[in-house]
Amino acid sequence: MTNARITAIGMSVPENAVDNKYFENIIDTTDEWIVSRTGIRTRYHAGPDVFTSDLCVNACRDLTSRYQVALDDVDMIIVSTVTPDQPMPSMACRVQYKLDLKFAGAIDVYAACAGFSYGIVMAKGLIAAGTHRKVLVIGAETLSRITDFTDRTSCMLFGDGAGAVLIEASEENGIGACVTGANGEGGIDLYLSGFADQIDGQPITTSRKIVQNGRKVFKWAVTKMSEQMPVLAEKNGLSLDQIDWFVPHSANLRIIEAICNETGFPFEKTLESIVNFGNTSSASIPLALYSGVQSGKVKRGDRIMLLGFGGGLAYAGTVITW
Ligand code: UT7
Repeated sequence: MTNARITAIGMSVPENAVDNKYFENIIDTTDEWIVSRTGIRTRYHAGPDVFTSDLCVNACRDLTSRYQVALDDVDMIIVSTVTPDQPMPSMACRVQYKLDLKFAGAIDVYAACAGFSYGIVMAKGLIAAGTHRKVLVIGAETLSRITDFTDRTSCMLFGDGAGAVLIEASEENGIGACVTGANGEGGIDLYLSGFADQIDGQPITTSRKIVQNGRKVFKWAVTKMSEQMPVLAEKNGLSLDQIDWFVPHSANLRIIEAICNETGFPFEKTLESIVNFGNTSSASIPLALYSGVQSGKVKRGDRIMLLGFGGGLAYAGTVITW
């Protein structure tokens, strides 16, 4: 079995930073409420000419500008997104075309905030199987396009952005065992409307927007992730105190704090992207990891637990060695 390792990381966000004051003007809220209940201070919204595929490509360009890696022999591109420019062609095909990656297969993963972690698990599997050697995994969203700006319980949460990692066949075992799972009965608690007019017989709106039962998803996230953290550590032959950094999906700073309270994992050893970027779904884990790497917090050899969760409801995680 061939091992795999992340060898490079890049990111991209659109130019337009949106602070909490913006929301004070369009819904009944305050900067103080948003910061204290979510942790969010800013997020970025794509302008009319910026699409998810652009953010994917920019994240890959950032990656190649920072690391001595070539992408021309990438043999698979996996993009996680729930906000593709359009459902077909896939975002992975747009990246293949725009970066002229002649030898790459291309596929999108559709698992919302768990999708980037699913992509890592799939890339490891392809490399372990010996069918592929160099895989780009990208998490990218333009959630501002599907945000309901009249919904005061959700519109201030979401942001746009992308993160990309390169995963290569390696002597080192840089991607460990994984957890993957779903509680599909919670589909009604977090969905993108505008397709079918019902879920499990419950009628839903036909306009296209994110609909979320925030309290239910919050509780599920804390309970499920607190349960899965030790399971994932054990699958990797580790205890939680041997994990250097925990990078959960950044949906709400209070969710991360609550998971730490439940599991006893130190909050200071978590990496987040919620404060500066909001909830960017597929992009949130690579954005958080990127900030940890660029700030110098994450060192070569560190063990990092990634754990994505969200719409589906679905989750996936693994432990990487940086
Ligand atoms: O990424 C995918 C996974 N998603 C998540 O994990 C999201 C999980 N959920 C959350 O992050 C939180 O539930 C929210 C941020 C969405 C909401 O925070 P909360 O602390 O759960 O608020 P709540 O729904 O319990 O509402 C508390 C109060 C209510 O007022 P009353 O009934 O206590 O008087 C709301 O009306 O906060 C009020 N409220 C607001 N106040 C000011 C709700 N939204 C706002 C707002 N500004 N924007």
